[in-house]
Amino acid sequence: MGDEPNIQGIDRGLTSYGDPGFSSYLRRASIASSGYRAEELDGPLIGIADTSSDYNACHKQVPEIIEAVKRGVLAAGGTPMVFPSMSLGEPYLNPTAMLFRNLMAMETEELIRAQPMDAVVLIGGCDKTLPAQLMAAISADRPAVLLPVGSMITGSWRGERLGACTDCRRMWGKHRSGELDEEEICDVRDQLVPTPGTCMVMGTASTMACITEVLGMGVVGSASPQSVTGDRGRVAVETGRRAVQAAHDGRRPSSFLTRASFENAIRVLAAIGGSTNAIVHLLAVARRAGVDLQLTDFSRLAAEVPLLVDCKPAGVGYMEDFHRAGGLPTLLKVLEPLLDLDAGRIEGVTVGESIADVAPPQDWQTTIRTLEDPLGPKGTLAVLRGSLAPDGAVIKPAATSGELLTHRGPAIVVDGPHDTGKLDDPSLDVTVDHVLVMKNGGPIAAGMPEAGYIPIPRKLAQQGVTDMVRISDARMSGTAYGTVILHVSPESASGGPLGLVRDGDIVELDVPNGRLDLLVDEEELARRRAEFVPPPLPERGWARLYAEHVEPAHLGADLDFLSGMPRTEPSA
Ligand code: FES
Repeated sequence: MGDEPNIQGIDRGLTSYGDPGFSSYLRRASIASSGYRAEELDGPLIGIADTSSDYNACHKQVPEIIEAVKRGVLAAGGTPMVFPSMSLGEPYLNPTAMLFRNLMAMETEELIRAQPMDAVVLIGGCDKTLPAQLMAAISADRPAVLLPVGSMITGSWRGERLGACTDCRRMWGKHRSGELDEEEICDVRDQLVPTPGTCMVMGTASTMACITEVLGMGVVGSASPQSVTGDRGRVAVETGRRAVQAAHDGRRPSSFLTRASFENAIRVLAAIGGSTNAIVHLLAVARRAGVDLQLTDFSRLAAEVPLLVDCKPAGVGYMEDFHRAGGLPTLLKVLEPLLDLDAGRIEGVTVGESIADVAPPQDWQTTIRTLEDPLGPKGTLAVLRGSLAPDGAVIKPAATSGELLTHRGPAIVVDGPHDTGKLDDPSLDVTVDHVLVMKNGGPIAAGMPEAGYIPIPRKLAQQGVTDMVRISDARMSGTAYGTVILHVSPESASGGPLGLVRDGDIVELDVPNGRLDLLVDEEELARRRAEFVPPPLPERGWARLYAEHVEPAHLGADLDFLSGMPRTEPSA
């Protein structure tokens, strides 16, 4: 279908009534009440995905952003067509928003393909939405521009600058240890999220906004402006304008997304000290684009890039500091010697051309560092393998104290995210040297929730312990920190070695050498394997379909009937 005209307007993908002339006539009759003139419907029609929802406060600004996108579309001679699309508000979804990433990707892909639009603007932000929209846009392969909603502005409490949600966790830790009482933690709660927008640290939302921009799927400068600012509005106008241009040029994701695009994205992920969640998302997104990204690509490329951006949780700043310092274009200028500058972008220029006139980081700021004077060492993310994780596991050394990266200790096992209450038992025999192991947090067992940030046992927290080695097949929030090993693959529910660990087993972590091992002899493991009973699958609905078809974390946790499949074109 590659020879179809770029602009088809309202007649694109006609509804099947067995008579194309009638289908066109009926469609135009049906939309007549909206008051469009005939030439407006001839295109370019620019679909705009509305992901606003009362269940997604991070997207509260979307209606205003849509108005700005529309201005850009109209100014460029297109017709904007807003349509509702699934929205995933991270803290509102049970058991986890991750369970619905692939559903949103599938829904968005089908809406792009089934409805008449010559290009689409996808407005996302809260953690799973941008990954889902990237997957959808690539699989639909229609000209598409992604637009992050932008992050929140920081708040403060008793003179201390606060932001979601690295500080949410830190302050909750103080409450658990008794340092903050009930009234104080409630006061803090009301200051952590003072404005609309996504979490304002370099968590998953901010990380995926940066990745969207470096992939070339969002316009230059779209990652960092805060949600409520004029800068965000101007980026939205530019996004609308670029969508019309992409429709005219027929520039689809397949026109410019290559392995080079994804390798650049991994370099950015490493430089910003970004979320471990981006690993599982990038694996899935790349496979949709036919790029066989592997966990080893992350360890190889991250080993070449130091930490360059001073944002929590790896640093101390927030996204508004990153934006004022120049945002992603300035960071890409720093990374210029390491990037593949020939990678393409939605604007029709290369990455190299897009940063040709960008100035290096200025002396008046300290948020974006240089390669000569980085904030932290290379290897902000690491991939581990070993007898406990034959297909891999991940850790973010940049968000640890560094003291436990080489550690050996006895396991304390919890059976799943529902079972962490046992860690608060005052009679629990636990020391700071123990390794906390959680099973049944993987894609099949639980939809891979952000439960890998296993709480420090209460009695140790009350003694001032803030970090322990924690291991699971779950994920953790990009805003979290600590010696937390995640995405262990194969997951416990599929019979992986993680499911065989018992209290007291010795676990050895060696991040410098990329190892994670269970020091139990093979004979004993074989005995346990013979007794292993997997958890039951959900009985019905989406959760059942997901559990039956989800791929392992080291492949991106996409559905097997969607990942790596050839792109399909809409029928005209
Ligand atoms: Fe929406 Fe953090 S809760 S981005």
